[in-house]
Amino acid sequence: MTKNDKVVVHRCARGYKAATHVVSEAITKPGKGEVRIRNHFAGVNGLFDQMAMQGRVGYIPLSAPFDLGVEAVGIIEAIGEDVSLNIGDAVATTNLGGAYRHRQIIDATKVYLIPEAIPEYLAIVPTGVSALVALEQVAELKEGEVVVISAAAGGLGHIWVQLAVNMGCRVIGIAGGDEKCAFVESLGAERCINYKVENIEEVLSSLYKDVINVAVDTVGGVIFDAMVDNIAPLGRVVVSGYASEIVDGAKPVLHPRIYSKLYWKGASVRGFMNALLAKYHRDAAKRLFTMMTEGKLSVAIDETSFKGLESLPRAAEHMMKGLNIGKTVLDLREDQ
Ligand SMILES: NC(=O)c1ccc[n+]([C@@H]2O[C@H](COP(=O)([O-])OP(=O)(O)OC[C@H]3O[C@@H](n4cnc5c(N)ncnc54)[C@H](OP(=O)(O)O)[C@@H]3O)[C@@H](O)[C@H]2O)c1
Repeated sequence: MTKNDKVVVHRCARGYKAATHVVSEAITKPGKGEVRIRNHFAGVNGLFDQMAMQGRVGYIPLSAPFDLGVEAVGIIEAIGEDVSLNIGDAVATTNLGGAYRHRQIIDATKVYLIPEAIPEYLAIVPTGVSALVALEQVAELKEGEVVVISAAAGGLGHIWVQLAVNMGCRVIGIAGGDEKCAFVESLGAERCINYKVENIEEVLSSLYKDVINVAVDTVGGVIFDAMVDNIAPLGRVVVSGYASEIVDGAKPVLHPRIYSKLYWKGASVRGFMNALLAKYHRDAAKRLFTMMTEGKLSVAIDETSFKGLESLPRAAEHMMKGLNIGKTVLDLREDQ
């Protein structure tokens, strides 16, 4: 029997078990200008989900009940009136509530047409889009600069590494483990710091003191501190997340105020929030699809397989424990 289930946050709470249910929904026809998509794969965003389930996403007011999951790829299986797309087209989508579900109905103008419904496109839209927009619009990265990237083997990080290498930049990655570091260096990074065995501050201050033009960070804590302490004159530290503290809240620190570290260098700390930079998304996606087709960008999907909506909590735990290399994905094909 055809199933049409979705993950719903039924009350704002901490963790999938307390906050979510999988519920069945009737399959309905798309309205004018809409398409119905059968989702094949969904991207897993463990940290974003944790914050969304608690209603703590800064740029969207969320109150239960609401549907969870952002990015999906799938196949159009029904179209409404006035739609120029076709049944059978492969598409990618990025709207909150559209991904952790078997089927979604969406405005046809919001989908991205892709050559086939494979998980690799989940690492482009929106992850790669975030990577490109952050480097261009926030970091203002220039050819030949020195860039430090944290969580460099992750979904976002491994795209950052390649985009910066493609721009002729010198890239230093930071990642948790030898296997991850070998992967980051295989993408063209000149060095990857395995923070599980190396002291990040010591490595940056001994090898890269004051030469780091751009640092992009999603982890925070001592990684962010080491980036700020070693940034070059006129350098830019980009806050793209703070995974190590975001769920439990940032801890107070006893450092001197950060302006004392930035002022004499004319350096800056900049926040990046992709959702607030939507005007750049379409163009970024188009360019990334071209890079992928031309073999200038390779996309890594984490090898651990998570099948069906019920495996979402395990998939999120896998990435929250830092066990993933590349993008973590839910396979929904056999579940429906
Ligand atoms: N600002 C934006 O607009 C934007 C857009 C997209 C994503 N993000 C953020 O970017 C980060 C990366 O996203 P992603 O989906 O590509 O994930 P990911 O990098 O594939 O996975 C998260 C990685 O972060 C590292 N990490 C270190 N400490 C962690 C902790 N306490 N909890 C969880 N992870 C930790 C781990 O790698 P290591 O072990 O190698 O450190 C882990 O593998 C997330 O924090 C996400 O929220 C922000």
